Amino acid sequence: MYRLIRDLLFLLPAETSHHFTLNSLKFVTQLGLRGKPQALQGRAVKVMGLTFPNPVGLAAGLDKNGDYIDGLATFGFGFIEIGTITPRPQPGNPKPRLFRLKQAEAIINRMGFNNEGVEYLINQVKQKKYSGILGINIGKNFDTPVENALSDYQRAMQAVYPYADYITVNISSPNTPGLRTLQYGAELKQLLEPLKHTQLQLADQTGRYVPVAVKVAPDLEKSDIAGIAEVLLSTQMDGLIATNTTLDRTKVQGMSYAEEKGGLSGKPLTERSTEVIAEFYQHLKHELPIIGVGGISSGADAKAKLDAGAKLVQVYSGLIYQGAQLVKECIAATR
Ligand code: FNR
Repeated sequence: MYRLIRDLLFLLPAETSHHFTLNSLKFVTQLGLRGKPQALQGRAVKVMGLTFPNPVGLAAGLDKNGDYIDGLATFGFGFIEIGTITPRPQPGNPKPRLFRLKQAEAIINRMGFNNEGVEYLINQVKQKKYSGILGINIGKNFDTPVENALSDYQRAMQAVYPYADYITVNISSPNTPGLRTLQYGAELKQLLEPLKHTQLQLADQTGRYVPVAVKVAPDLEKSDIAGIAEVLLSTQMDGLIATNTTLDRTKVQGMSYAEEKGGLSGKPLTERSTEVIAEFYQHLKHELPIIGVGGISSGADAKAKLDAGAKLVQVYSGLIYQGAQLVKECIAATR
């Protein structure tokens, strides 16, 4: 059934069909036609001090502003991550900026953190009925120079802290110029050390410790991975999310849209992201949990991420191609 609806939706431009689908989901959820916005039973996992009812979550970027939380929660995810949100609203890149590579079950996007800003997101979160685990993913505004990125991350963290179960520091979008440079060496330490300080201050003020995870790209050398792992441990981060989209086009060469600028996600990313997880795991072992994401389009893909060392997984592109059934399949495969 999803295949049929999908083929019709795929006749629309990618971004139009994205909004149409999510608004329809919202509508039918409000009518009470989609069941409860709650997690499906699965293998419960304790990670970052939180108990996840099952290990399969929604990755950031599908619901950037928290507009669709209750509708998406009816899919049965063990957790939902919204964002990336920036302190101030911004329009993102000019359209078209979202492309489907159907042949490869892949997506290329250069959305550029289009979002309504942190105040809007908080207002949406306040209205949700879903009471499961909610992650909020934060980033910097495109016109904030990368040297001043810390102040944007601090502003966003302060604003979302009371409303998040965990916070993700996104330094791996390829669509905000300079952002990925924050992943390396001194820049990473100079960002994460003060952010840790802000987190601890907020924990003190609110009496609630909200864990912080850092989201990285798949386009990293082994030496980069070793360096990042060392800084994550020394700055006492709570988790790692691996990975974001890739700039590598090797696996889609010659396909329509393959040369569009942006980050590639979906099936062509599966193996690379699992390799990156396995490499990080060599350094982090049980000291810092990994959330695995990238090209999961079957239960077996989800299990492979766990086998590589991830404690939890997230999906995005696979959902577009497979529908909500993928969530059930992944939960069953990770029992
Ligand atoms: C993303 N992703 C993403 N990640 C993030 O941290 N913040 C964001 O705003 C976005 N936005 C976004 C938009 C679109 C259209 C896509 C396809 C992806 C990345 C996403 O969360 C995930 O890390 C990658 O897509 C890899 O997983 P999948 O899609 O292969 O399952």
